[in-house]
Amino acid sequence: MGTMTKVILSLSGVRKSYITAEGPVEILKGADLNVSAGETVALTGESGSGKSTLLHLAGGLDRVDAGSVIMDGQDIGAFRDVQRANYRRTKVGLVFQQFNLIPSLSVAANISFHAKLADRYDPQWEKHLIAQLGLQDYIARYPEQLSGGQQQRVAIGRTLAARPLLILADEPTGNLDEATGDSVLDLMLTLAKTAGSALLFVTHSSKLANRLDRKVMLRGGRIAE
Ligand SMILES: Nc1ncnc2c1ncn2[C@@H]1O[C@H](COP(=O)(O)OP(=O)(O)OP(=O)(O)O)[C@@H](O)[C@H]1O
Ligand SMILES: [Mg+2]
Repeated sequence: MGTMTKVILSLSGVRKSYITAEGPVEILKGADLNVSAGETVALTGESGSGKSTLLHLAGGLDRVDAGSVIMDGQDIGAFRDVQRANYRRTKVGLVFQQFNLIPSLSVAANISFHAKLADRYDPQWEKHLIAQLGLQDYIARYPEQLSGGQQQRVAIGRTLAARPLLILADEPTGNLDEATGDSVLDLMLTLAKTAGSALLFVTHSSKLANRLDRKVMLRGGRIAE
């Protein structure tokens, strides 16, 4: 990474507790992480270490207790609800294990949905994505008529169609067999690089993690390189 590389996501001193029956439990205890524009970062760590929690905070789905999440120069913790919704619509793309496709929309409509909301609908780019993701023969189908791997590719296409600054992916290949998971990751990496999107990718697989630009680990509520 050159010195000119712009940091697009910066978490500093992030703390987050959950209230449980036994009282509050602190999961993140001052986590620091920078992601540069276009950079692909693997986030690993034991089950329960707080990876999904961190992604939810970065994605504006939840709020930090202390510390800050700066995205593209803006402190998202200071956002009001409307700004937060706008942030989710325009700056970040989420790919989680649950695909959250819209059941009443065709594959084609699912893929263009976020791009249209973000006002970045580009039919050429979308056509390219559909071809690269091998979805040409499925565009008129509905999510329930697809296999898990096909649905996952639609979810990835939908996120990439909007060319977000940052893609937050939470074990998106966890439900797929190893070969399919590898090829889906390959596609995500290639397409994210083409779109110029940075990628923060949660995985338990060190083999997958090794294919990204950088690998960080959550341990004891903090990020270790
Ligand atoms: N809403 C909640 N209320 C209470 N505790 C929670 C809540 N969400 C998560 N936790 C707890 O916070 C800890 C971190 O959860 P998180 O889902 O971030 O872990 P993770 O690293 O993503 O784990 P995994 O690899 O299993 O997905 C866990 O101990 C979990 O039980
Ligand atoms: Mg998780």
